[in-house]
Amino acid sequence: MEPRSPAELHLPVLLTAVQTHLRPGPGVHCLDLTLGMGGHSEAFLAAGARVTGVDRDPAARDLAAQRLAPYADQLQIIAGTFADTAEALAAEGAQFDAVLADLGVSSLQLDDADRGFSMRTEIALDMRMGDGCPETALELIDRLSELELAQIIWTWGEDRFGRRIAKAIKLARQERRLNTGVELAEVIRAAVPGHQPRHPAVRTFQALRIAVNGELDQLDRLLAVLPKLLAPGGRAALISFHSLEDRAVKHRLRDHVTAGLLGESSRKPVIADEAELAANPRSASAKLRWCLR
Ligand SMILES: C[S@@+](CC[C@H](N)C(=O)[O-])C[C@H]1O[C@@H](n2cnc3c(N)ncnc32)[C@H](O)[C@@H]1O
Repeated sequence: MEPRSPAELHLPVLLTAVQTHLRPGPGVHCLDLTLGMGGHSEAFLAAGARVTGVDRDPAARDLAAQRLAPYADQLQIIAGTFADTAEALAAEGAQFDAVLADLGVSSLQLDDADRGFSMRTEIALDMRMGDGCPETALELIDRLSELELAQIIWTWGEDRFGRRIAKAIKLARQERRLNTGVELAEVIRAAVPGHQPRHPAVRTFQALRIAVNGELDQLDRLLAVLPKLLAPGGRAALISFHSLEDRAVKHRLRDHVTAGLLGESSRKPVIADEAELAANPRSASAKLRWCLR
């Protein structure tokens, strides 16, 4: 089979809403904090905007650079986490007309078995997106107590069987039965009672990924400096896939409006319409919130 191009690998989520709210065009400087495979940025560049793109994943940066090569003179790519980069840019007084954060993992990361994200992975569980992740999922599991692990599964996986799953995981590690994604999925299936509509390990995989990559901490740090990154009249759009992320975005933007640091923020999240849902299943849990300085 021919290798798939970046454009085929990933459809940018809520692209029309992103364009409506960020208004890319000539003279507009966009900061894309989650460059990924460059889907959103390609649309910004094609509209004539300049883009500064950030990603913590070297593989994503390479693919995006390849895909966006026709626009190389409008594009700068920065390596690192968006929290570190946003804080550094804000400290140096950099301001942008449009800021985008399309949170979470990309299909590139999830689908690549060598990255150790998925339930089908036959290699040691890793789940690091790239820069700024001190430990793999296995190292995290081994460092945490059973109770701390249960807390993570319960909070970030929103799984009521967190205690039971954490106990089974710790035991399986002790007995050297757990190393890969496939084995983790099996340990969880055996630990969770009854029949579930989704595989019972989905939530735990999500929770571990969020913990390994410090995703909520990254988002908090970004939200804290977001108003400083926006030029007067500048706009930001944040797309989240997890209720805790969406709640953090909603409250933090509202607080900034109340404090007079932002002019306006969205009341309701924008979600995918039926056509997008049919074309791109990943859009089902996407929520976009916007703000205006
Ligand atoms: C959902 S994808 C973005 C897809 C992109 N909008 C597109 O259209 O191709 C998320 C990307 O953000 C990156 N990412 C996630 N969290 C990050 C963080 N804290 N700092 C930097 N990059 C991050 C991931 O490595 C991944 O490539």
